[in-house]
Amino acid sequence: MKITFSDSPPDKADAIVVTAFAGRHLGAAAKSIDEKSDATLTRAMRASRFSGAKEQFLDILMPAGIDASRVVVAGLGKRGSVKALTLQNLGGGLVAQLNRSGAARAAVLVDEADDDNLPTTARAANLAFGACLSAYRFDKYRTKEKPETKPTLSELTIVSKSSGKAKAAFARFQALADGVFLTRDLVSEPPNVIYPQTFAERAKSLSDLGVDVEILDEAKMRKLGMGALLGVGQGSARDSRLVVMRWNGSPKGADDPPLAFVGKGVTFDTGGISIKPSGGMEEMKWDMGGAGVVAGLIKSLAGRQAKVNAVGVVGLVENMPSGTAQRPSDVVKTMSGQTIEVINTDAEGRLVLADALWYCQATFSPRAMIDLATLTGAIIVALGSYRAGLFANDDGLAKKITAAGDAVGEQVWRLPLGERYDKDINSQIADMKNLGKNREAGSIAAAQFLQRFVNDVTWAHIDIAGVAWSKQDTATVPKGATGFGVRLLDRFVADNYEADA
Ligand code: BES
Ligand code: MN
Ligand code: ZN
Repeated sequence: MKITFSDSPPDKADAIVVTAFAGRHLGAAAKSIDEKSDATLTRAMRASRFSGAKEQFLDILMPAGIDASRVVVAGLGKRGSVKALTLQNLGGGLVAQLNRSGAARAAVLVDEADDDNLPTTARAANLAFGACLSAYRFDKYRTKEKPETKPTLSELTIVSKSSGKAKAAFARFQALADGVFLTRDLVSEPPNVIYPQTFAERAKSLSDLGVDVEILDEAKMRKLGMGALLGVGQGSARDSRLVVMRWNGSPKGADDPPLAFVGKGVTFDTGGISIKPSGGMEEMKWDMGGAGVVAGLIKSLAGRQAKVNAVGVVGLVENMPSGTAQRPSDVVKTMSGQTIEVINTDAEGRLVLADALWYCQATFSPRAMIDLATLTGAIIVALGSYRAGLFANDDGLAKKITAAGDAVGEQVWRLPLGERYDKDINSQIADMKNLGKNREAGSIAAAQFLQRFVNDVTWAHIDIAGVAWSKQDTATVPKGATGFGVRLLDRFVADNYEADA
């Protein structure tokens, strides 16, 4: 789907889209169409349940006096309450609506802002962003899809005053969407296509955008002493990898300490010798979701030339049972020097992150370090699929992440860390074990474990097990890989680390 910006409506459109506020108050463009069409819009609203509430659409077919086969009235909600997310959701919902109705070319008429909430150009750009996010599809492996089930919408024109400025504002969103789409692609790919080496190759292609990409193979990691990460990968026929992606955009130069993002990249998690039940195991192809977010975020930052230094570190392994796989009760030594008793080989994400986190802080001395991981089923029990779990050793960092999440609609909820929980991961024979106290506080036990590998760095951990994959469509996130975390962290960077740069 192509998105274009224009000051005036195109000559030919299958659908013209206008907006109304709650209480059936037509916007300016809607009013003018209503006048040209003998009050068709007003009458259609009266004949329906359309009230102008958010996420409502009213389709009017073949309106008299209008040169389009349909007019769609889209609800904006209460006048004066229009926010960036309102427009993004409207744009996203609209794409779904137009695809259902079979339109190929549509034009949205964006009214001039009549309040101080959001300027007209930002309205147009946010609407376009939502439309773009919603149009994502992962269909490369479908060879027999019938034309009638394919999306019909090929061009969406956003019509607004100062469309040139709207287009310029959208460029930043386009870079962000490109990052989200890289994440969604990586997470959607099957595990026979994306495994440690191929993930690393895709990450390597970020060098086209000016990202410095370094790939560490097993020999290199062995030399560094990454026994925990390597232990997880040792049962797989695929070699493990650690990938470092650096974007240096700070005006202070390459020596300005970076923000660090670390991702769990288990390209398939069978559980290993502590094997998972077969029902639903296919979902474990997205156990590299954290790594996917880190790659997508670095792509977004580079794509929009963010004025910040950022480093992304992803630990890539496949967790398989085999004759070479690690056993429950194995003891491994990490790069930090600390030893771990592996009680359950299915608690592998923390083992991978232990070495990735330690390597990251030791190598880059970051000003802050944030990891993302599909780490625990327990976080899904606690928060469901609407919020990710947040852990942090710093209140300021936790607040910044929470605020960024609220602003972009990718929300987190903070859970505690503490000494008592930490004690639960002590081992009888090693420095720690990779399991807490039975099934109690599973997500916290995992976070406590990670905390032992962050040294004294300001750090946060986001458990995205419940949000990386969605079983239902929302306005801007089609079901499947969500890309949750890319928008959040892009916003976190923009709001807190670029202004002072
Ligand atoms: N990748 C899983 C966590 C997961 C579960 C992600 C469901 C997404 C959906 C992780 O490696 C895992 O297996 N965790 C175990 C930990 C347990 C053995 C302590 C879990 O959550 O059951
Ligand atoms: Mn596991
Ligand atoms: Zn896992």
